[in-house]
Amino acid sequence: MLSQNHLHVSLLYIVLLTGTKYGCGGGGCGACTVMVSKYDQLNNRVLHYTVNACLQPICTLHGAAVVTVEGIGSTKTKLHPVQERIAKAHGSQCGFCTPGMVMSMYTLLRNKPHPTMEDIREALGGNLCRCTGYRPIIDGFKTFCDVSNAFNLFPQASCLIQRKNDCVLNKYLIPCQISEELFHMDNVLPLDPSQDLIFPPELMIMGKKRACGSLCFQGDRLKLISPVDLTNLLELKTEYPEAPVVVGNTTIGINLLLCHLLFVIYLLCVHVHAGVSMGAVCTLSSLKEEMERAVREMEAERTRGYQALLQTLQCLAGKQIRNMATIGGNILSANPKYDLNSVLAALDCTLQVMSKGTWEFVSAFRQAQRREFAFSIVNAGMKVLFREGTNIVESLNIYYGGVGPTLVKVGRTCQKLVGRSWGEDLLADACRLLEEEVELSDSAHGGKVEYRKTLTTSFFFKFYMQVLQELRERDVNVCLLPLEYLSALKPFKNEVPQGHHSFQLVSNAQSSQDPVGHPMMHQAAFHQATGEAQYYDDIPAVQGELFVFMVTSTRAHAKIINIDPSEALGMTGVVTFLSAGDVPGQNRRMLFNNPEELFAEEEVSCVGQIIGAVVAESREQARRAAQMVKVTYQDLLPVFFTIEEAIQHQSFFDPKRKLERGDVDKAFETVDQILEDEIYLGGQEHFYMETQGLIAVPKGENGELELFVASQHSAYTQEVVGITLGIDSNKITCHVRRLGGAFGGKVMKIASLSAITATAAVKTGRPVRCVLERGDDMLITSGRHPFLGKYKVGYNNDGTIMAADITYYSNGGCTLNESLIMEKALLHMDNGYKIPNLRGRGLVCKTYLPSYTAFRGFGGPQGLMVMESVLHEVAVKCGLPPQKVREINMYREEECYTHHKQLFSPRDMLRCWDECLDKAGYHDRLQAIQQFNTSNRWKKRGISAVPMKFGVGFSKGFFNQGAALVNIYKDGSVLVAHGGTEMGQGINTKALQIASRILKVPMSSIHIKETCTGNVPNAAPSAASFGTDAVGMAVKDACEKLMRRLKPFMENHPKYTWQQWTVITAMARFTALILGTSRSQVGYPNAVTVWVSRGPHTDMDWENSEGPAYYYFTFGACCSEVEIDCLTGDHKNLRTDIVMDVGRSLNPALDIGQIEGGFVQGIGLYTIEELQFSLEGVLMTRGPSQYKIPALCDVPPQFNVHLLANAQNPHAIYRSKGIGEPPVFLASTIFFAIKEAVAAARRERGLGDSFPLSSPATAERIRMACEDQFTEMAPSPKKGTFKPWSINI
Ligand SMILES: Cc1cc2nc3c(=O)[nH]c(=O)nc-3n(C[C@H](O)[C@H](O)[C@H](O)COP(=O)(O)OP(=O)(O)OC[C@H]3O[C@@H](n4cnc5c(N)ncnc54)[C@H](O)[C@@H]3O)c2cc1C
Ligand code: FES
Ligand code: FES
Repeated sequence: MLSQNHLHVSLLYIVLLTGTKYGCGGGGCGACTVMVSKYDQLNNRVLHYTVNACLQPICTLHGAAVVTVEGIGSTKTKLHPVQERIAKAHGSQCGFCTPGMVMSMYTLLRNKPHPTMEDIREALGGNLCRCTGYRPIIDGFKTFCDVSNAFNLFPQASCLIQRKNDCVLNKYLIPCQISEELFHMDNVLPLDPSQDLIFPPELMIMGKKRACGSLCFQGDRLKLISPVDLTNLLELKTEYPEAPVVVGNTTIGINLLLCHLLFVIYLLCVHVHAGVSMGAVCTLSSLKEEMERAVREMEAERTRGYQALLQTLQCLAGKQIRNMATIGGNILSANPKYDLNSVLAALDCTLQVMSKGTWEFVSAFRQAQRREFAFSIVNAGMKVLFREGTNIVESLNIYYGGVGPTLVKVGRTCQKLVGRSWGEDLLADACRLLEEEVELSDSAHGGKVEYRKTLTTSFFFKFYMQVLQELRERDVNVCLLPLEYLSALKPFKNEVPQGHHSFQLVSNAQSSQDPVGHPMMHQAAFHQATGEAQYYDDIPAVQGELFVFMVTSTRAHAKIINIDPSEALGMTGVVTFLSAGDVPGQNRRMLFNNPEELFAEEEVSCVGQIIGAVVAESREQARRAAQMVKVTYQDLLPVFFTIEEAIQHQSFFDPKRKLERGDVDKAFETVDQILEDEIYLGGQEHFYMETQGLIAVPKGENGELELFVASQHSAYTQEVVGITLGIDSNKITCHVRRLGGAFGGKVMKIASLSAITATAAVKTGRPVRCVLERGDDMLITSGRHPFLGKYKVGYNNDGTIMAADITYYSNGGCTLNESLIMEKALLHMDNGYKIPNLRGRGLVCKTYLPSYTAFRGFGGPQGLMVMESVLHEVAVKCGLPPQKVREINMYREEECYTHHKQLFSPRDMLRCWDECLDKAGYHDRLQAIQQFNTSNRWKKRGISAVPMKFGVGFSKGFFNQGAALVNIYKDGSVLVAHGGTEMGQGINTKALQIASRILKVPMSSIHIKETCTGNVPNAAPSAASFGTDAVGMAVKDACEKLMRRLKPFMENHPKYTWQQWTVITAMARFTALILGTSRSQVGYPNAVTVWVSRGPHTDMDWENSEGPAYYYFTFGACCSEVEIDCLTGDHKNLRTDIVMDVGRSLNPALDIGQIEGGFVQGIGLYTIEELQFSLEGVLMTRGPSQYKIPALCDVPPQFNVHLLANAQNPHAIYRSKGIGEPPVFLASTIFFAIKEAVAAARRERGLGDSFPLSSPATAERIRMACEDQFTEMAPSPKKGTFKPWSINI
């Protein structure tokens, strides 16, 4: 039963089932995907299609059936094969995206039980995953394909004896067994469509009856009317002229939430088909289907317009949005970033798509931040009609989207070209005319002005070439298009990733019951795939629960004059308003003596700083009221945001770090060459799929408080809440079941949010829930630090680097927070290279931005990247292949010292490197690339390989400890609790494997429920790739202690079962207690808490630049190849090979999952993820529509990951190694491969190989670095002569 307030509410809030997840609320992530089924009267069939529940208004579902992930299978009854296979193929890590993935695949199978790989690619195009790197999801789903379509379905399932490798490093290694099988297809459920839910017969009957009247839904704030037909719609429109028409709701939906429109007319879709005429309310999916049908059935030359439309539709949004969005909506939204208008206009369409003649050529172009599922930066539709049999232009239509506030018709240009011959003169004139006609001010909204201008001419050049080519094919006398130009005409094809994996099998001597070392499935994968896995926001509302919404600063640096919440407090449902004065304890969060205010008291120092919080009865009420709180500011100076400005202001945090070995200055005097340069690296948003939040529940007795919180450091959250409330930690219990991703972002800010929410709970005496909206999460919590690396390097002509002096600047934002990541950047600056004289200085810039924090790699990816840039540039200057210069400079001796004097052996790094180049076929491919580049003018390829040495553990030694509590119950079941946090990395699975090995009971008898500060106190954060090392050791130790206590009973009763032993030991304890025997004498065998601090001591002496900063190093090497489109800046990742040393893997499937997931996150960091800030310091990229994380299309189609065999590590649990963070950096190979490809393009134009390229290497940066006649037409305006739309912070 809907309340009146729910009329406009999306399906997501109504289903009251928790399997459907809320990741963004704007159709941009796919976490909320559900299947809608409707009877289609026109074709007398039931349609099944996916939609984004977050955008689907509940009223629009009249007569439809909705199936959520809960509806298709469950662990309690039976899993659906889709759920089973994504889980078994290791396609679910944190699991937050999993239900959405499952529903996209399920719907595909409902419509097509034997899909092709292309079908799967299309079905998943609108689903984002931040953890897995997509490959394992595809691996699970491709098992539904016909075998003939599914390449590499069961990759060499047998074990292989490792081939003998001639490499000298391997000479003493024993042969071992290698497997390539990460999961079995034995015993999986077959797909049986007859088991699927049927479309409800009553809906079928209803659907078959023609609607005879309009439907009306009346709420207190709005009214929705669904007209019966077009005439009815027009009547209603006359009655309610102000009411907008809502169809798919994909544009208006978001605004509806924001603007609170009063009247909405909803028109049920009426599909009008007559030939290829499409009704305005037809969805983009049906338009696509119609176009595909037309292209299939009609003569090729009559379908050019349709092909152009198809080209656009393939990349337009994701499948779910295409299923909801309509043609009319796309056109009438008049958004210049929307793609259809330019193509339809070029085609002379009103709402009809038609083709006039055979001498007509049509094309559509678009370039976006990401190739798929992203709004275009610029799009274009172009059509030319020739006088029959000639190259004389009879008419020309060119429309651009993205170069003005609306669609731009370049009429003057087109007019002037009519009557001209299609040739080089026309091209030159067209470009000149376009340059004149496309007016884009240097301050234009959206920025990227030179790039957008360049795209207009580049697109035309592509069109020119396409048409030229086709005219020649028709024997028209036009100039010859050079062969090497042809590849420019082919757009990149999106493919699904596939790959080879290999790992060392456990030895034959290992018990078959022992799961350690096997690729075991993530322990919660089935629950995640069925939607049963609970995240904090899935916990049902507690009686009397309230909702808190943050009020944040809109000024970057200002004095708070007044906060007036009166209007908000007068609103329905609002309970209270909180600010600094309401905090009972201390209004601050501390980290290593660095305070950060919870609520800004007197001054704000960034946009997004929390000033207050509104507490209301519902989410919606709190959100609305928060916008009504009036804050009066007085702006203060200075205010600046960029690293450059901070350097000018000498605005740095302390401590300023320095590391030095050798005598750098002296070495500069003796080297052949000196190079000075810099590289800028942009920041990165965590974009975990589950946003931050918690529920605080006051217990009413002794001031006790329980928090169900998404924190990867629950002990810290507990401490901050205690200090804020002024109560002891023993009254506060934090529960963490699982996190929907964290990546370092759920350590610090979540503690502040928890303290604020707890304050609200204490003030109101009621439970309070806090869930950050995606935009607020991005604004408030911030992410990875932007870096600037300035370097001076001295080298000899053979490529040997003798000295390097690097200054790292990071943008720390307004407080220090976790900016000590700078230390890790410095500690990683040598990577795998022995540079005898090396100096690094680290300066954290204090700016007026939200403070940056920890992110997977913790400064490592930035520190390493600067060093790799040094290596790359030295190679360029020496005219040597970068891979050669890397090899020349690598650490080689068996015993080496890092620049901070930590002893290590680089042997396994060198093995990774050799094996990686070998497996990648680097040398052969390098030659092939050179050949490709010679024969292709506008497409270029590049390849790059890097080695990696990555420190594992906290350099602050006290964090390197773990704790576990293991309970054995009388029924033989075991409960493990530990201080780590399960956030997708599989820490629980590994803990279970370890416990199972020691206790010798199956993993199914061992359970891990949650992380709880009440069970395991003072735990370290799950971070620094150290979680499993710490927790694993603790679990092992606890289990061993228990086994020692059980041993006497086992020996006395060797024939008993495990359960019998647990019973008698429990009874023994009972007897012991009765006899008054102390526990230490007899033992208390069923529970033990253990603290472990193992391994070498870690500590850094920064004064003397020395110290063992890490437990050990994880090594790896990676090789990637890319292809770029020099005209658009688009790039395609072609292939990646990784060889990684994870010691003896505890679980190869989880480790490979971490490598792939980390690598793909790195792809985002180094190539597409771009945060944009306004001149006023406001983050403008606040959701998946503006900020693009890698999607399926970004994963290299060949993605091979091999775990180094025969690897060892004496310092961690069962000789394994930490792997969470290191792989991110390996994606820098994509960056350097792009740089190589750009260099190839520049060489052809006689430009230097040495050129600046900042990270991420976005389409804009790639295009502008491929300087040519088109970029020259769009020169950069002089700095200071205009107000840029955004700044590089
Ligand atoms: C995540 C996401 C990604 C997207 N990516 C792309 C992309 O890459 N390229 C692209 O081009 N678009 C993209 N879109 C936009 C999408 O194509 C449009 O939102 C969609 O086409 C609008 O159709 P709708 O039916 O949902 O319109 P609605 O949201 O229902 O309405 C939009 C506007 O059009 C008006 N309107 C709608 N239909 C009619 C009609 N029949 N008669 C009169 N007025 C009407 C409405 O009154 C309203 O003002 C994306 C959208 C989302 C949410
Ligand atoms: S929550 Fe609906 S698409 Fe992200
Ligand atoms: S498993 Fe996909 S987002 Fe975490």
